[in-house]
Amino acid sequence: TPRVFSGIKPSGGLTLGNYLGAIKRFVQTQDEGSFETIYCVVDLHAITVWQDPAELRAATREVAAGFLASGIDPERSILFNQSQVSQHAELGWIFNCVARVGWMDRMTQFKEKAGRNAEKQSLGLYAYPSLMAADILLYHATHVPVGEDQKQHVELTRDIAAKFNHDFGVDFFPLTHPVIEGPAMRVMNLRDGTKKMSKSGESDMERINMTDDADLIAKKLQKARTDPAPLPETVEGLEGRPEAKNLVDIYAALADLSPAEVLAQYPGAGWGRFKPALAELAVEKLSPISAEMKRLTADPAEIDRLLARGAERARAIAQPILQRTYDIVGLVRA
Ligand code: TYM
Repeated sequence: TPRVFSGIKPSGGLTLGNYLGAIKRFVQTQDEGSFETIYCVVDLHAITVWQDPAELRAATREVAAGFLASGIDPERSILFNQSQVSQHAELGWIFNCVARVGWMDRMTQFKEKAGRNAEKQSLGLYAYPSLMAADILLYHATHVPVGEDQKQHVELTRDIAAKFNHDFGVDFFPLTHPVIEGPAMRVMNLRDGTKKMSKSGESDMERINMTDDADLIAKKLQKARTDPAPLPETVEGLEGRPEAKNLVDIYAALADLSPAEVLAQYPGAGWGRFKPALAELAVEKLSPISAEMKRLTADPAEIDRLLARGAERARAIAQPILQRTYDIVGLVRA
């Protein structure tokens, strides 16, 4: 069976963007059953920027709880945290020696994060996409469900695989495909429809956190910025209206509808009607997840036990692939 791999950084709590752009789709892929599904809390990626150790531990368990509460079944999928499977770091080093500096220089996410201060960033942040390629290729995963912002990194993974195969004259690492589909591949900030919703934005009002309670979710959606015009009749009418488009897309993703179907249900509705409907839907879908996350994180030892068990299963796949990689490269191991 072909494999799916994807990961989420524990660099803070989960947002609605992570849920709709990633976790909800991970669950669907698991439930469809046509792939072996491997999902990872990528703690080694998180530490490319400073993380307080106690907060990192808490966020790792919170992200794991988010996966479980959303429907990831630790029997049917492999769920673990990256640092417990040392093969990720080992293959990451080899890929640091395959990838070119010029490739990293083209990564838009690094440029966005570093701004004018590239020389002050950690070396790890710069090499980040090379470790991400290792995450995926360590399992020979071919399909990588991600949000739009990760597309360039998954494409780089293909370049690394192709260069490795070419340099060593092998056909060992498969070419990977980013899977980016559905209405919520880029959930935007509730205060500024031209910016991505992210864990690290300045104001908490601009994002919905998976741990927000019902009142807060409703308040944030109610206060979300919009233009004054009512909803258009067709999706073409959302062009040039990023805030309106974002709220319709969020509704569509939560309700498993297309944006056109959402507009057909609320023909020409004003915000006074649409926002409360969206808030009600969001609370209905998200509050069972946040309640379950709360229950799960109350027992961190149980989460740690599940992650350790997942890591053991991950290692069983990763170790032979790493061993074969060492052989191909010419690294001696008895
Ligand atoms: P991260 O932790 O930033 O985000 C995790 C996933 O959530 C998606 N996402 C969004 N989707 C839609 N709208 C948004 N506003 C939004 N914000 C985040 C991301 O696209 C991602 O799918 N580098 C990765 C983690 C990673 C990884 C991997 C992913 C490490 N190794 C291997 C796939 C395969 C990251 O920082 O994601």
